[in-house]
Amino acid sequence: MNYDAVTELALSRGFYFPSCEIYADAQAGFWEYGPLGVALKNRYIELWRRELVRRDGMLEIDGSQIMSKSVFIASGHLDSFNDPIVRCMKCSSVYRADRLVGEVINTVVPERIGDEELYTLIQKHNIRCPKCNGELSKVSRFNMMFKVSIGADGSEAYLRPETCQSIFVDFARLFKVMRCKLPIAIAQVGKSFRNEIAPRQSLIRLREFYQAEIEVFCNPKRLDEIDRFDEVKDVMLRIQDSNGMHEVTASSAVSRGIIPNRLIAYYLALLNEFYSKTGIDMGRTRFRRLADDEKAFYATVAYDFEVETSLGWLELVACNYRSDHDLKGHMQVSKENMEVMDADDGSGNSKVLPHVFELSMGVERSLYCILEHSLYEDMENDRLVLRLKPYLAPIQVGVLPIVKKDEVEAKAKEVFKMLRKDIDAFYDDSGSIGRRYRRLDEIGTPYAITIDRQTLDDGTVTIRDRDTMQQVRVRIDDLKDELLRRLKMP
Ligand code: ATP
Ligand code: GLY
Repeated sequence: MNYDAVTELALSRGFYFPSCEIYADAQAGFWEYGPLGVALKNRYIELWRRELVRRDGMLEIDGSQIMSKSVFIASGHLDSFNDPIVRCMKCSSVYRADRLVGEVINTVVPERIGDEELYTLIQKHNIRCPKCNGELSKVSRFNMMFKVSIGADGSEAYLRPETCQSIFVDFARLFKVMRCKLPIAIAQVGKSFRNEIAPRQSLIRLREFYQAEIEVFCNPKRLDEIDRFDEVKDVMLRIQDSNGMHEVTASSAVSRGIIPNRLIAYYLALLNEFYSKTGIDMGRTRFRRLADDEKAFYATVAYDFEVETSLGWLELVACNYRSDHDLKGHMQVSKENMEVMDADDGSGNSKVLPHVFELSMGVERSLYCILEHSLYEDMENDRLVLRLKPYLAPIQVGVLPIVKKDEVEAKAKEVFKMLRKDIDAFYDDSGSIGRRYRRLDEIGTPYAITIDRQTLDDGTVTIRDRDTMQQVRVRIDDLKDELLRRLKMP
């Protein structure tokens, strides 16, 4: 299905909707999760914890969203986290210059393009204000961080534009108190804030959004010594680089030089395995290796994990080799030593300033792709079905009395009460049974339990499967275990 159908579903069933929408001064780029959205997000993050954090023995932290100015001097964000903008000299509208040029000349303009070069393109193609056709200014830079002032004296601080800065700032303490050894991954899920110039397409470009980030601290001399590599060596990866598209196992990607080392290949493979369990169609995904002029200012090697949607290819995860950019910066500005001990590399020196490889995941874009790839119009049965994996479904079970009879309804309520502590269940007795099934189908509820007259006689109920619409009868005594078995993560 397409973007409009997903948005319509999200709004009509309360998965997500614009923030402050009752006010005329509501700002673009801020969206809220309703109950179904929260439940989907929580389950998605639980899967992320299971498949990445726990599987790899990562540490998880939860840092502050407001961080002091020094953090962003050290990280380089104050100087470099900016987008090129142009202003219309007639109506004063502001545009992101690289996007505007890209749209007009129908190409992707690289992230690191210079301002002069952009302005030359604007002149060469006679690009003017899309609103009033006015002349555009020269290109200038706009820093995308939100500045905040703290306390009565108004000290300068910032909302973090990426969650990982908390991980870098906390690294030395964590390494010590958690008695870490390299390589060690530290994970965090939390909010990031970016003053995007042109927020759009609901969850795709927000000003406030969740990231689930993983920073892997490693010894740059030992990037091929990763003992867990064997677990993923046969995972198939789809990698696009300047030589084209490669469908290769993680191990042959390394031996053929498509991925530079085992550490990067191992984490890309883990990420791939995680996404293959989300319901995203893996045939429409790729790891795209970025050219030098496309990479973020801190990255030396970068792959974007991208998914094909009705809006085109979307970047869901930035996989960046950040080298020692961040720890070195924080060490210089804070004067704290960030070096740690690792096994002696033969040179007699076992001190190392770790390098970092990161998997920086956008939660909202991932949820959007799951919704788009799962939503399906079943024409034959005249229904819209959200074919979510059962373990991601916000409401896992609907409990439906099939007839309006006191004894049947009372039994249905009993079943509902028995389930709801362990399973997200929803009781629905309003409207025809067909309509109740349809309502559950379109929010992705994998199972509907019906209670009928036979239930009163023999203590059995039916379980209806959302996708096949087949029903089986089970004893109420066995129902919870049967549902928990079906809802289990693989
Ligand atoms: P884009 O090129 O689309 O602006 P980016 O390269 O700036 O994205 P990163 O800085 O690499 O994005 O951020 C890591 C991840 O965080 C992205 O892959 C994306 O999933 C998510 N993300 C970044 N910016 C936004 C945003 N404005 N709204 C929603 N998600 C975002
Ligand atoms: N931490 C990488 C990013 O947010 O871009």
